[in-house]
Amino acid sequence: MKKIIVANWKINPSTEKEAVELFDAVQNGAKNIKNVEIIICPPFVYISVLAHLTSETLSIGGQNVFYKEEGAFTGEISPIQLRDLGVKYVMVGHSEARKHLNETDEIVNKKIKECLAEGLKPILCVGEDIGEDKEEVLNRQLKSALKDVPCSMFHVSCVIAYEPVWAIGTGKNCSIEETKSSVALVRKVIAELYNQEASEAVKILYGGSVSRENSADYVKSDGVQGLLVGGASLDAENFIKIVKSAESISRVN
Ligand code: PGA
Repeated sequence: MKKIIVANWKINPSTEKEAVELFDAVQNGAKNIKNVEIIICPPFVYISVLAHLTSETLSIGGQNVFYKEEGAFTGEISPIQLRDLGVKYVMVGHSEARKHLNETDEIVNKKIKECLAEGLKPILCVGEDIGEDKEEVLNRQLKSALKDVPCSMFHVSCVIAYEPVWAIGTGKNCSIEETKSSVALVRKVIAELYNQEASEAVKILYGGSVSRENSADYVKSDGVQGLLVGGASLDAENFIKIVKSAESISRVN
């Protein structure tokens, strides 16, 4: 099974020229990659230029999206617009959007449904912050995000990223053991919501201070089918090392 490695560029880089250079460098480094699906999520403004440079291995994702297909929603971007540019995946519910853009569980649910209706694959981000009850948070975030989402659509199109908020951008990645137990919790909720088959089949990524030093440990451990990489995706060499760690493990599996 192909692993998925997502690059979340956040609000970087500052110019289109740098964005193209970074994309090209990743593209070059990923030339012989066969067993990993790489999804680059740049800022919206670079999507149309980068979409022309994609390949079978490297595709473009959105960092966020709005939940309406059209209308008077100043500043927003619709799933149809993203799809038109060749975008396949969209992150929904990233903790930074929940925190800075007031994205509630209800909004996350609307976004997931709209993405699925338009043929985009949501990467649903969930995770607890320090001091929060992990089980309660995962249960709530998953159940509200997937409310009224039919099993068949979930099964075919949704990816889940487990990202403990305290690990994002802090350099303090979550231990493998803790990640495994969190992923098991996620699968338990999915089994409750849908069924065992859907729970076993869904691809779950880990995100939060992934680096070239720790990436192999995650992809090696059973349960995690890929990674969501922020800071370390801004340096092509680092990012390719992460991709290659997943490639070598996928080949073994
Ligand atoms: P980080 O970001 O790898 O810099 O911690 C992860 C993320 O974007 O969720």
